[in-house]
Amino acid sequence: MTGIQLSTRLERVKKYITDQINAFADIGSDHAYLPCQVCLEHPNIKAIAGEVNQGPYQAAVTQVQKENLQDRIDVRLGDGLNVIAPNEVECVTIAGMGGTLITSILENGLDRLEGANRLILQPNIDASSIRQFAIHHQYEIINEEILSEDGYIYEIIVLEPTSSPIEYTAKEVYLGPKILENKNQAFASKWRKVYDKKKSIIKQMKQAKEPDQSKIEKFEQQLEWIEEEL
Ligand SMILES: C[S@@+](CC[C@H](N)C(=O)[O-])C[C@H]1O[C@@H](n2cnc3c(N)ncnc32)[C@H](O)[C@@H]1O
Repeated sequence: MTGIQLSTRLERVKKYITDQINAFADIGSDHAYLPCQVCLEHPNIKAIAGEVNQGPYQAAVTQVQKENLQDRIDVRLGDGLNVIAPNEVECVTIAGMGGTLITSILENGLDRLEGANRLILQPNIDASSIRQFAIHHQYEIINEEILSEDGYIYEIIVLEPTSSPIEYTAKEVYLGPKILENKNQAFASKWRKVYDKKKSIIKQMKQAKEPDQSKIEKFEQQLEWIEEEL
């Protein structure tokens, strides 16, 4: 079988795209490595690779042609979820961006998410903004992972729409409810670094002429949560 050597990060994202899914959209697809490899492995899945920038769009077109997958992967140029129509896909993946960018792509295209019963999101930073999105828009966090690759830490958050009430504590939004159930080396390494950095920031903030007391309190609360979990 021909194939693409995906990064560990994208391999982990890929495993949430199961055979039950007939069509998915990969937004910010760059070389379309993820949709190509998924389609090579699952003969019945179709995909849309969305890209807002010309260079990565062309790279995706070229890769799809190279793998001879033009009949199953539609590469579309456009901003965020604008490249899909409501009910066109059952799953959306957005990987390799900051959590706030991922959240704004989702917020700007809520109507396009109709029919998408799974969102697989892989923020490089600011994962908590995705958890806030889940609370505001009635999605359940069905799985989360934290992993390290080549010295970087990545998180994966899998959301599914639900009609049940969504209740996550502020601590869970900050650290990840599912990640907390399954802490690993990557978790320890990420939060140890954040802890040390935050501690020194708080020290500096306290030395300011007019310390921002509410921000200091917020950071101190976060330090306490990290301490409880390390
Ligand atoms: C760092 S790459 C990640 C590529 C791939 N998803 C991965 O995880 O390896 C981010 C890609 O997202 C694209 N992008 C950024 N904002 C976007 C938006 N609003 N809509 C579509 N694509 C976007 C960029 O052009 C870039 O190719």
